[in-house]
Amino acid sequence: MTSLLHVVGARPNFMKVAPVLRAARGYPGVTQTLVHTGQHYDAAMSERFFADLDLPAPDVNLGVGSGTHAAQTARIMSEFEPILDRFRPDWVVVYGDVNSTMACTLVASKKGTRVAHVEAGLRSRDRLMPEEINRLVTDQLADLLFTPSRDADQNLKDEGVPESRIRFVGNVMVDTLLSLRASARELAAPVTYGVAGKPYAFCTFHRPSNVDRRETLGEILAALDDLAGRMPVLFAIHPRTRQRIAEFGLGGTAGRVTLLDPLSYLDTISLVDQASLVLTDSGGLQEETTVLGVPCLTARPNTERPVTVTEGTNRLVPSERDGILAAVEEVLRRREAGDFKPSHPAGWDGKAGERIAAILVSE
Ligand code: UD1
Repeated sequence: MTSLLHVVGARPNFMKVAPVLRAARGYPGVTQTLVHTGQHYDAAMSERFFADLDLPAPDVNLGVGSGTHAAQTARIMSEFEPILDRFRPDWVVVYGDVNSTMACTLVASKKGTRVAHVEAGLRSRDRLMPEEINRLVTDQLADLLFTPSRDADQNLKDEGVPESRIRFVGNVMVDTLLSLRASARELAAPVTYGVAGKPYAFCTFHRPSNVDRRETLGEILAALDDLAGRMPVLFAIHPRTRQRIAEFGLGGTAGRVTLLDPLSYLDTISLVDQASLVLTDSGGLQEETTVLGVPCLTARPNTERPVTVTEGTNRLVPSERDGILAAVEEVLRRREAGDFKPSHPAGWDGKAGERIAAILVSE
């Protein structure tokens, strides 16, 4: 008998828990509980993902909502503690690097409950990024560290984490992508959005470092508007970014860009799959474009996912208009020359969830 309590809270967690839940269901004697912290709560950021990913409704929703990092983390911790007392699982399984990941890891470790971290060991080495703090704390405390790539193993060893806690299992996001790629293609979102058969760019930006300063967000929007002069630019806007555009009075500067509400998982993959290029600051899209062979420009000075650059289609660009546009020119030239191919770094084979479940039931 093994009891697993999975914690999810924010949009990127949902794609990561799905393959682990599914694989663990195949073992007799395993009981599973799904806890949603409620960090993301809009239907477009949460329920629609549950539907696309065929996830069961959460057993518990802590309903914590938004707040400053301290307020949100504190609320997750105090709401999670009684749930842990109620279910007393063998393992708390946490995913990725969001505030829910770190908050529940802290609670579980202090109560002596074993924690397994899926997507452990990634490092941007940029402590101004809230996710980097979440990664560092979670990996110090977790008992089992499931890594998506070999660089993550090395990062953990460099920080003095004993090898006995590290398990290289591969990338669970890729499990989800490979299992739903055909459904996403069938959906034909480019037809729905009027860009089928044409070159177009797909974009998302939501990192505080890109959207919380008027000047930086203005530079990004100016680049997108320029690009929209030569091909349709579809920009799926996170609620944080929409708020900032309104607050900074930047609505008019994105004139030719098509602004879309947050998209479902399948719509996103369907659009990314046929795009000429993707411009983003998302972690997940860096990986998904690599697997789909779509050129990706990431507006960040660093990435915690270096294999997407060394083995994939990703390139880092500065968050300013001229730098983005110069990189776009080069990428479109290289794309014409057929320079971008799908890449599957080691362990990005659609079986990471199975490897994780097998380890959790045997430990
Ligand atoms: C969080 C994660 C980030 C991840 C992103 C994916 C942390 C520190 N950050 O950032 O790593 O890439 O999710 O989306 O955990 N909001 C809504 N509706 C929602 C959720 C949020 O309107 O359903 C608005 C709120 O105004 C909120 C803001 O978006 O204050 C930011 O939400 P929050 O969860 O704090 O961080 P994200 O930017 O979404």
